[in-house]
Amino acid sequence: MATNVTKQYHHVTRSKRGQILGTVHGFRGCTIWFTGLSGAGKTSIAFELEACLVSKGIPAYGLDGDNMRTGLNKNLGFSKEDRVENIRRVAEVAKLFADGGHVCLCSFVSPFAEDRNLAREIHSSSDLPFFEVFVDTPLEVCEGRDIKGLYRKARSGLIKGFTGIDQEYEEPEMPDLVLKTVNLTIEECTTQVMEMLEENVLHF
Ligand code: PPS
Ligand code: MG
Repeated sequence: MATNVTKQYHHVTRSKRGQILGTVHGFRGCTIWFTGLSGAGKTSIAFELEACLVSKGIPAYGLDGDNMRTGLNKNLGFSKEDRVENIRRVAEVAKLFADGGHVCLCSFVSPFAEDRNLAREIHSSSDLPFFEVFVDTPLEVCEGRDIKGLYRKARSGLIKGFTGIDQEYEEPEMPDLVLKTVNLTIEECTTQVMEMLEENVLHF
């Protein structure tokens, strides 16, 4: 716990920063938080959306679980405590991206509702829009795909504490958007998120 720290104020407002950064319209910083099981499609959708936004001149940046865990969060594993800290740190980073005028796309399993609520709270207390998107792909489908071979390892006991196998995934109760990926392509999912953004924060 840090003591003797004092909040330091920027000389540039959020909207001023947004005017400089945005080439389509001014400030549009916000965070879209993708949650779902491993293999649900979070990364694919978030990175497709990142490319789509950038192609329209809208600054966007994807923060992804696999990537953050090789850098800022490389000292964290997959125990409940470490996942809590993982999400807390990432939510703080996302807030900075959003404050800086980016659409920050977070793709994390984020299995615990309390942590996702904290991520929302970190944004709303700074008046930044936050959207929770549930990438709703059933366990059987994720396990059937098993792109990374992690489910096989988890079933055979080589990986302990794997989400959906021997650790819990708490489904979002009131997400801003649910993507039922089984009947949708990546592009169709991306379009649904774009529509949500257009209705709420982006004005093309
Ligand atoms: S969490 O729960 O939000 O802290 O997890 P996250 O930072 O998103 O990291 C998930 C990626 O790590 C790999 N992996 C695991 N996932 C879940 N449970 C366990 N035990 C685990 N071990 C490794 C896996 O590649 C996850 O990426 P995705 O894209 O979800 O498959
Ligand atoms: Mg991923």
